[in-house]
Amino acid sequence: MDAKIRSSHEWCQYFLANAGALLEIAWEQGAGVTAVELDAIAESVREFQLGENAEGRHFVGSAKAYAARSGDYEYIDAVRLLIGEEQRHARTLAKFLELAGVPVAQRTTADALFRWLRKRAGLEICVSVLLSAEVIAKVYYAALHDATGSPVLRRVCEQILRDEVEHVRFQAQRLALLRAGRPRILVLLGHAAHRAAFAGACLVVWWKHGRAMRAGGFGFRRYWREAWREMRQALVEMDPRRVRPTQNHHRGTETRRMKRAMSAR
Ligand SMILES: [Fe+2]
Ligand SMILES: [Fe+2]
Repeated sequence: MDAKIRSSHEWCQYFLANAGALLEIAWEQGAGVTAVELDAIAESVREFQLGENAEGRHFVGSAKAYAARSGDYEYIDAVRLLIGEEQRHARTLAKFLELAGVPVAQRTTADALFRWLRKRAGLEICVSVLLSAEVIAKVYYAALHDATGSPVLRRVCEQILRDEVEHVRFQAQRLALLRAGRPRILVLLGHAAHRAAFAGACLVVWWKHGRAMRAGGFGFRRYWREAWREMRQALVEMDPRRVRPTQNHHRGTETRRMKRAMSAR
């Protein structure tokens, strides 16, 4: 695991470099999916396509408020670049569905609920919810990859999986920064709450997408095991003890800003 917490500037550089190094997808081959495969995965892919397709207005809004507090303005750009990658995921999945003759979904209850949840939250909860989604995505797209012989869909999944590895890291590192300096007991309580919410999210996703994942050879036990293996890694990555004092500029900047405001009075 990458021991270093990247700065927002480094994250922007990563996202820009990644955009120039995407896998080639042989769209001209067509969907290449069988009727049996499509029957098992189509509804599920439609829902994930919708989930990837978010404008992230609330997330950007929270990032702006945080930037004003912390002075980390490049975080806003990094969040925008991340959302751009999610929208690319949505575009490639939509293109696959179109090739397979399946209409994209307009709005589903699960998606509406997920969005409602994020809109109610401040940055820390918003990032926590998104991190859970990214972790589950890492397992889901691996299962979807194995659920089809379609070279196009398999390639789409490979690209998404590569991206999601870094997305989990991006979200986890921000949680570490947000929680730096917080009493250890509160950090551990936060992790416990996150684990409980994650367990619930895993069950809901299995209920909705278990059929598609089973088609990829992921029974419930395998899905559950893999999801928790990924989550444990993320919990290590989001440990605020990894933040070096020089990186904890958030509080420092806040203090400096307050001091400036006081002396200006
Ligand atoms: Fe995604
Ligand atoms: Fe993602």
